[in-house]
Amino acid sequence: MKKVILDCDPGHDDAFAIMLAAQNLDLLGVTTIGGNGYLENVTRNALVVLEKIGRTDIPVYPGHSGPTLGELIICENVHGVSGLDGPVVSEPKRKPETKHAVDFIVETVMNTDHVTLCATGPLTNIAAALNREPRIAQRVDALYLMGGGAYAGNWRVAAEYNIYEDPEAAYKVFHSGMEIYMVGVNLTRQCPVRKDFVEQMRCLGTEAGVFAAELCDFFGRGGDAHLHDPCAIAWIIDPDIIKEAYLHVDIELTGTLTRGMTVTDLRFLQTNDPEKDIDLNSTKRWDDPPVGSPFRGEAPNTHVGMRLDYPKFCELVLNTLRNYN
Ligand code: BDR
Ligand code: CA
Repeated sequence: MKKVILDCDPGHDDAFAIMLAAQNLDLLGVTTIGGNGYLENVTRNALVVLEKIGRTDIPVYPGHSGPTLGELIICENVHGVSGLDGPVVSEPKRKPETKHAVDFIVETVMNTDHVTLCATGPLTNIAAALNREPRIAQRVDALYLMGGGAYAGNWRVAAEYNIYEDPEAAYKVFHSGMEIYMVGVNLTRQCPVRKDFVEQMRCLGTEAGVFAAELCDFFGRGGDAHLHDPCAIAWIIDPDIIKEAYLHVDIELTGTLTRGMTVTDLRFLQTNDPEKDIDLNSTKRWDDPPVGSPFRGEAPNTHVGMRLDYPKFCELVLNTLRNYN
């Protein structure tokens, strides 16, 4: 099983990421970041989820409470006041660790081979870890993150919430040389919270299944919710669950309308076919046409998730929830 640190801001979909990671990966620790809710709440929520699935052996380390610049924008309209509204849960018996998330990330990565990082909230902790110890960029196997989108936003027209919350941190991460796997909203829109899927969770006959269904009842109440964060963990568990394109991605820091955008160079995948915008099976390379052409692409730096195998994803979630008993 791959060794993973999950940096998150639970968050209903983060809760699914935790549940998938705790069973299918070697989850070394959960670190938290102010995002969907205030740090105190998201940390408590991480403890709640781990207690629900009986994994109180997995430590939780609180990290930064807000972004590098500016104020934290919490997502009360999406995740409720607690950050995990919906299921009635008791206060966790466990306390979080006293060590800071950034210390845990740096120490663990420097002392352990083959750690994979996964970030499903704003990238503030990961950027702070890189500032503290730049060598972690090469030490980790990879960073899988939920954030951004190839020509797609949600919080803003061009920007997805996790990146919009702390673009400076995202810039640091995307320029660090880490092997990055990006699960953006272009991908996660393929992962809707469907009613039949939720009913399958509820009928599993496990406490985890009912908990997951109740999370979805709240999270999916508007009819347009997606399980963003578990897609990143699912990709670590099963590399075939997502089809990728290896592309150049950079982070917009200014821009009148585009701060926080993950500017993704899709040009060499574009087709002349009126029926098809891009071709994932294209044999063209980013450096074709050659130097000098204004249409030449930029050297790829990110594995961008493009197609999700949704039935396979649902099966992974249901099997995981079934096995928590
Ligand atoms: C991201 O924002 C949060 O609301 C979700 O947990 C996810 O990480 C989607 O834009
Ligand atoms: Ca999240």
